[in-house]
Formats: sequence, C-alpha cells, structure tokens
Amino acid sequence: MVSEPINEATWEQLRVAATNAMGRAYAPYSKFNVGAAALTEDGRVVSGCNVENAAYGVTLCAECTLVGALYMSGGGRIRAFYCVDGAGNVLMPCGRCRQLLHEHRAPGMVLMTASGIRTMDQMLPDAFGPDRLNIT
Ligand code: THU
Repeated sequence: MVSEPINEATWEQLRVAATNAMGRAYAPYSKFNVGAAALTEDGRVVSGCNVENAAYGVTLCAECTLVGALYMSGGGRIRAFYCVDGAGNVLMPCGRCRQLLHEHRAPGMVLMTASGIRTMDQMLPDAFGPDRLNIT
C-alpha cells in the first residue's frame, strides 16, 4: 500500500508539536533540549522530549518517550517524524533512535531532516529488524 505524501500543513503541525514537546524537556546535564513528534497511520500526533538522568547513560532520548506515548495512546505505526533541538531547528535522530523508529515505522515512513524529507530506509539502510528474528 502506498500512502499519501505528507502535505506542508501536516509537516508544520509536526514541527509545532515537536517544538512544544521540546519545551517539556528535562535536560539539566547537557542543557540540550530535544522534542520529537510523529504522525501515526490513524492520524494521531504523538510527541516526546528527552529526559536525562544523573546516571548519564540512563538518559531517554525524545524518541524514546515518543514511542512510549505512541503505545500509551493506542499503538500503531509512524508515518512521519519531526525532531527539533532547543532552538527549534531540525535535529537528526541519533543512531540508536533510528533503530527505535525503524521498529515502529509504517511502510514508506518519512522524516524531516537537515537535508529535506527522507525515508526511514534512507536513514537506516539495510536495517536489522524484527523480520530477522525467528518469532512466530
Ligand atoms: N537526544 C535526543 O533526545 N534525541 C536524539 O536523537 C539525539 C540526542 C538527547 C539526549 C541528550 O539528553 C541530549 O540530546 C544530548 O545528547
């Protein structure tokens, strides 16, 4: 199934949701606030912010709390994703979070990036995923 392209208004809606989420970040250590927002296949917008920890490695990226929000609001898959830094500029998801997003992607999922709209497959080519596990 080929999904409709994401229109300008929807990208703007995601940018605003990501920016609002960024305002809720808990980042007293890095002082690098991050917000993320995603459109689900059933039309919901879910968002997340980074939540740091005194044990630095325990930090949750904005994408982690977004995926929590995804499941807490009914689950489903992500069609489009937008992430911003503390200045509201587009932020590339870190490597770990690309893996996280890959798991929950809808077919043809797209991301806003520093170099324009990219597909999940472009962001994490030849990805490892659930299809490689022998689970029935
Ligand atoms: N961070 C995210 O929330 N998402 C990313 O994709 C990149 C990094 C956060 C983690 C940490 O709280 C701060 O940015 C600095 O690394």
